[in-house]
Parts: sequence; structure tokens; C-alpha cells
Amino acid sequence: KSQHDGFSENFLWGGATAANQVEGAYNLDGKGLSTADMIPHIPKEKRGNSFAMDVTADYIEKVLAGEVQDRYPKRHGIDFYHTYKEDIALFAELGFKVFRLSINWARIFPNGDDKAPNEVGLKFYDHVLDELRKYNIEPLVTLSHYETPLALTRKYNGWYSRELIGFFEKYAETVFKRYKDKVKYWITFNEINVITHSPYTGGGVLVEKVKGKTKEQVAYQAAHHQFVASALVTKLAHEIIPDVSVGCMIARMLTYPATNHPEDILKARQQNNKNLFFTNVQAKGEYPSFINRYFQEQNIVIEKEQGDDEIIKKHTVDYISFSYYTSTSVTTQEHGEKVTGNLIKSAIKNRHLETSDWGWQIDPVGIRIALNDLYDLYKKPLFIVENGLGAYDKVEENGEIHDQYRIDYLSKHIQQMKEAVKDGVELLGYTAWGPIDLVSMSTSEMSKRYGFIYVDQDDDGNGTLKRSKKDSFYWYQNVIKTNGESL
Ligand code: BG6
Repeated sequence: KSQHDGFSENFLWGGATAANQVEGAYNLDGKGLSTADMIPHIPKEKRGNSFAMDVTADYIEKVLAGEVQDRYPKRHGIDFYHTYKEDIALFAELGFKVFRLSINWARIFPNGDDKAPNEVGLKFYDHVLDELRKYNIEPLVTLSHYETPLALTRKYNGWYSRELIGFFEKYAETVFKRYKDKVKYWITFNEINVITHSPYTGGGVLVEKVKGKTKEQVAYQAAHHQFVASALVTKLAHEIIPDVSVGCMIARMLTYPATNHPEDILKARQQNNKNLFFTNVQAKGEYPSFINRYFQEQNIVIEKEQGDDEIIKKHTVDYISFSYYTSTSVTTQEHGEKVTGNLIKSAIKNRHLETSDWGWQIDPVGIRIALNDLYDLYKKPLFIVENGLGAYDKVEENGEIHDQYRIDYLSKHIQQMKEAVKDGVELLGYTAWGPIDLVSMSTSEMSKRYGFIYVDQDDDGNGTLKRSKKDSFYWYQNVIKTNGESL
């Protein structure tokens, strides 16, 4: 079969999760608190259009002192810590070739700067990885998916401090050595660009603690530390694990010009550049020239140490992974209606696109554009490690869940992904986000469901946690079985 006929025989089909959104067991077996454990669920009526993911230093201290009584759904997830066997058996039934999970850093190094790792935490992932192996499911492991140990936030202000590089190296070395025979595919930082949107979520950084600096000045400095750390652990992985593949990961925020006014085209291009800046550094190994003017205008001066540029240049990633949910539009012109998007609070509505229950625009063709752009720019293999539809599901009286809307979304995106492969893009695999319902990253809601597998739990944490199969379960099972032929 030539590459232009469609997906290769060894295409990696599967699903993706993050420890903090599924595991629960936030204080068991020696785990320390992570940044995600402090993010409350605020009902939509109170929250409005804002996200749940930004917390302040003051809030954290009040929570720890027991002075606030909010609910923290990410502490409980869907109890994957105890149900992983049952859940992995369902993934196997779906026919998964790959399962993307993250290691919760605070389960291994509870304070981040501990001398020795927590053996019970390491054992937990041994069990999970062995369970995957049992079904021949390839693990794809993210080292950092919004799970910075909270102690590193309080003590060092997270990734704003250069000291985090060393702690991260130690953590990575520990898990590389431990799982070197079990894990071949790694991702260093989930959606590394998110640090500029939410420095707390992306890097455990509390901006208000840095006096006299803007959010962006702080965030780009923290990102620089993550770039160096990512390059150093890529080096480590290459030394420790034979045949390893290490990837970077961005939230690909595809931006269109809202009109064909040249100023709009330019604005969209600048926005895309800001997004691709991260991939430039990690895949090409250098800060791209286009960012200089932006840095100048925003008065952003990155403090680098001697040798940083060489490290970044030398240890670029083996593949590029990304999440894709939606596209957004920008304009310099007068324009009316607004929409939201993945981490975008306000964008211009694209009248050619429909929106999800959460107002994100549904744009399957965008995934083909994103794939082609990334491949043309960097000529490295790509991996779609998140894509999916967050939607309200209704359980019928007989227990069935007819999520045709989810099937429609996924099928159209996979169709476009196939077109991109025919265009010549080298694509390693596809992991749909949240194959089993999990706690939403941006809103901490449970009702924003992505799964093929339903989990009986509501936004207030009530429910039996029972798993059941939605219509999309059988649909995706068949997609995998036919290697993407039957959509
Ligand atoms: C990505 C994150 O941004 O989007 C995931 O890597 C997240 O952690 C996913 O869950 C979907 O976003 P949300 O806010 O709907 O959970």
C-alpha cells in the first residue's frame, strides 16, 4: 500500500487522557498535591465565560488553611487509580493500538524537589503499563500534563524559576530508567504554548508574585525554562531508552482571517506564528526570527544562560504532536458576533461553521490544514494526540446513549486526516481525547463529555462511576478494525 492510499498498516489508533483528569486518589499512597488539585469547579452561572483554571497565590493559601470550601473534581477524576484494569479492558475491546496517559509528577516526587522518588507511585504506573502490554496496547506517555507539584509552585513559583529544570530532569531520568522497556513514545510537555494563556495551569506560575512584569513577560521566561528542560530530557531519553521517540506537543490554535482584508490576513498570520513559535523552538531548535519584533514590542527579554541555545539546537524532538479541536478567526475590522474556543475566550464567529455545546466551532477541514502546515514547515512525523467533541450526553431509559453528534464530529475529522495523509503528510497515529468521560480541563465539569465510554458521575461528584458504552463505542471500534476505511 503506498502512503497515498490512506492510513498505513501500523497506524496507531487510540485515545488520550491526563492523570489529573482521570486518576483521582489525589492524596493516596504518598502522592503530593499538584497544581490541578487546586482548581475548583465553579458552576457556569457564576463562572460566565471564564475558565476554572486560573487560581491565585492567595486562593491556594486559603484552601490549604481550610478557609475556603470549594469542590475540586480533579482530585477525584473518574477514579482511574482504582479502575484502570476495567477501563483498559474496555480500551482493548475498542481495539486500541495506543493509549496516551500522563504520569502525575507529584505521584513520583510529591514535593518535586524530594531526594528520592515515591516507590508506590512508580509501582502504580508499572501496573498500568503492564496492563496495557497484556493487550498489546502501546503506551504514549506525557511527562507533564498540567501536573506540576504544588510545592514547586509555592516554593519556587513553578517554571518561572530556572531551578525547575533540574527537578524535571531528575523526574524524567527516574521514569525513563524505570519504564525503559515498557514505553517507547514520550511527550515532554502537554500543550507547551498554554503557559502563555494560563501560566498557572501550564507551568505552576503565579504571575502576581512577579512584581513589575506582565503576564506574557513572565510566561515566556517560564516557557524558555521548559524549552531547555524539554531538550535536556530528550537527550536523556535518547541515551537511556533504545528506539525511543520523543515528541513536543502544542495546542494547535488554527487562526483564520475573518475577511480578505490584507490587514486581517496579516493578523491571522501573526497569530498562527505565535502559536507555531513553540514548535519552531522544539522542532527546529531555535527561536524563530518572527518572534523578535513581538518580544521587542511587548518588552519581553528572555534571560538565557550560556549554553541554552546550543542545548535547544542539539536536542530537537523526533516527532511533533498536537491537539486540535477547533479553529478561530480574527479581524482588524468592525465585526459582530463572538465565539469561544479551546483556551480562547473570545474570537470572531465564522458563519460557515457550527458550534459545539460549549461554543467551540467545529471545523474538520482545519485539521487537514493544520497537518499540512506542520508537515511542510518541519518535515517531522506528526501525531494527533487530542481531538474530540465535548458535549452533553443523554442516557436513555434503557441505558443507551445515542451520541450521533460525536460520531459525526470524529468521522468528519478522521476523513480530513485521511486526506492529509493522501496529501503526503507522515502521520504516526491518532488518539481521540477522553475515550472515557473525564473531568474537563478548562471548566472542571464532568458534564462536558468526550468519551466512547460513559461514566456515571455528575458535576457535583454524585454518581456510581459505572462505565457504559455509547453508540460511538461501537462506531470507533469499527473504525479501528477497518483501519479508518469505514467511517
Ligand atoms: C486540551 C488539554 O487543551 O484540551 C486537555 O490538553 C483538555 O487536558 C482538552 O481536557 C479539552 O479541553 P476541555 O477544557 O474541554 O477539557
